[in-house]
Amino acid sequence: MLVPYKAGPPLSEIRRRYDIDRVVELGANECAEGPFPEVVAALTASLVGLNRYPSGDSEELRAFLADRLGVEPGALMFGNGSCDLLMLLGEAVLGPGTHVVYADPSFVVYKSIALARQAEFDAVPLREHRHDLEAMKRAVREDTRLLIVCEPNNPSGTCVGPAALRDLMESIPSETLVVFDEAYTEYVTRSDLEDTVPWLQDYENLVILRTFSKIYGLAGLRIGYGLAHADVVDAIDKVRQPYNVSTLAQVAALEALRHPQRVAERRDHVAGERVRIGEMLTALGRPWVPSKANFMLVGIEGLLTAAAEVPTALLERGVLVRSGWGIGYPGWVRATVGTKEENDLFLGALGDLVGEEEPI
Ligand SMILES: Cc1ncc(COP(=O)(O)O)c(C=O)c1O
Repeated sequence: MLVPYKAGPPLSEIRRRYDIDRVVELGANECAEGPFPEVVAALTASLVGLNRYPSGDSEELRAFLADRLGVEPGALMFGNGSCDLLMLLGEAVLGPGTHVVYADPSFVVYKSIALARQAEFDAVPLREHRHDLEAMKRAVREDTRLLIVCEPNNPSGTCVGPAALRDLMESIPSETLVVFDEAYTEYVTRSDLEDTVPWLQDYENLVILRTFSKIYGLAGLRIGYGLAHADVVDAIDKVRQPYNVSTLAQVAALEALRHPQRVAERRDHVAGERVRIGEMLTALGRPWVPSKANFMLVGIEGLLTAAAEVPTALLERGVLVRSGWGIGYPGWVRATVGTKEENDLFLGALGDLVGEEEPI
């Protein structure tokens, strides 16, 4: 059954409900830092022009990004967040008599787009927290129109890596669009990270989705982009609204792209914190899943507080994480990697819930 996406309550309500001054927001995989200062300046300068509609094709942004990525401008599409593009893809290619394959647990919207279009779907269980690409390949049928791989995967943070993805592309029929949802790709530091953009030349059925919501700190503005064969972009153009990306979103994204050094600094910070948090979790006796993204799954069974109550117990201590029960990972929480201070507050709150041995 199709159910509305349920975002968490506003932070002001949480503060009121739990009578706390501050909530550390580690529940939605957002960037701990805001937009780059240059982006804030560019946004401020654009406010006076808001009586006009935006460019319907995100023209300037498109030209800049096409040049940066080495693709034709017509290979790009922009949306009100990458979620918008996912939903538009569903609208463009799904319907009764079609089929979708994706992993489970993975990003909740994949199921929604299948249900919204009355398409059938196979949600293929992860294996050891990773996409089981062999099983996903086996799930593909003649009527499969979309196969979605979330790399790195939300909520597990794992990657399958370029070799396995290449192998997947080689074995999927060209009638099936393969979507790489790369919302967190800027956080990946693995040495064998391969930019998948040049693959578009080899595979006309490849669609890559990325977002400005995460490392660029622009979640509130809503802008994401996709790369695909011109026919796919054309199909999306037919179903999207004429001005689906606001002026401010276009301005912010364009300015944000001009500062790759700032992106690298954020990536390095998160990578360093992932290691440090992992060590601290191990010291607390907590299981955790090594992540390539800006969030980590942390096991919460066997604490002083019953596992199902742990997300609330953390909230009472001022730390909001995503409960695993809502995202297919009962017994775990998903915590965004925040600033060092925020991460310490999370670890401290979790530490409160770890039982100490009674002194003899
Ligand atoms: C895997 C994945 N894809 C897409 C999105 C949506 O991002 P956007 O804000 O660009 O719509 C998210 C957001 O959390 C995500 O986790």
